[in-house]
Amino acid sequence: MPEHPADPHTDNIIECDDIVVRFGEQVVLDHLTLNVKRGERLVILGGSGAGKSTLLNLMSGQTRSTSGVMRIDGKNICAMSDAELDEYRKTIGVLFQSGALFQSMTVGDNVALPLRMHTDLDEDTIGTIVKMKLELVGLREHAGKLPSEISGGMQKRAGLARALAMDPKVIYYDEPSAGLDPVSVTQVDELMIGLNETLGVTTVIITHEMVSAFRVAQRLVLMDQGKFVADGTPEEMRNSEDPLVYQFVNGESDGPLSDRRSSDDYTQSLLS
Ligand SMILES: Nc1ncnc2c1ncn2[C@@H]1O[C@H](COP(=O)(O)OP(=O)(O)OP(=O)(O)O)[C@@H](O)[C@H]1O
Ligand SMILES: [Mg+2]
Repeated sequence: MPEHPADPHTDNIIECDDIVVRFGEQVVLDHLTLNVKRGERLVILGGSGAGKSTLLNLMSGQTRSTSGVMRIDGKNICAMSDAELDEYRKTIGVLFQSGALFQSMTVGDNVALPLRMHTDLDEDTIGTIVKMKLELVGLREHAGKLPSEISGGMQKRAGLARALAMDPKVIYYDEPSAGLDPVSVTQVDELMIGLNETLGVTTVIITHEMVSAFRVAQRLVLMDQGKFVADGTPEEMRNSEDPLVYQFVNGESDGPLSDRRSSDDYTQSLLS
């Protein structure tokens, strides 16, 4: 398919069009269509196994779709060669579910890593950038420590500093508050909002934490079984009368999600 050049006037930085991802027989992303506006803070909600990380892995160029088009800044990343995808990955930041710091490297070296790998900058310049990124996340004094010498919340922030190293235009966060105490959750939330507002970086966040989701989101989408089932502002989602949205947002044990789980071919699976 011919590439359309990036249209600088388009509001959308990410355009997913009819995306399908299949693993064997299982359809994990089922004809997804979604646009993310430049500079937007979008939260993706959904139960375990809904397909959120798969979508994020696709958007961040870690995996490929079975079919569909995903344009980032007008370029279809689904049609890119491996080398082009490598280039694309340098323009984004990803904070993985685990934080994924290299345990044998200091915090400072972790942040410097993408700069050493992907740029020709000299060590003095890299040192200055590392200090600036660590300052952004409040960790400048901890540059010389190993990940095991700082707390879980600080490791998340160090991961974020590393994701920021290359001045990304989009940052993807996969469950940034998982395993953090409530104060650290608030700090990470404020950091995500602050970076979005000061740097204008488009922000896509997967989270299970409802308080956090409503604090950081300008818009929320709800995924279920590989599909988007709701899309709205925090206000719209909070007041939604859709039983699925209501159950998810309020964490109710009764509702369409649980009904479906309990009736899901259980008898058949036991007998097969
Ligand atoms: N590489 C893979 N090979 C096979 N199946 C996969 C692969 N990656 C994901 N899946 C399946 O796709 C489905 C969606 O997984 P995904 O990790 O996207 O869910 P999720 O919404 O992020 O869930 P959670 O909230 O638990 O992180 C699951 O059923 C999972 O087993
Ligand atoms: Mg996940």
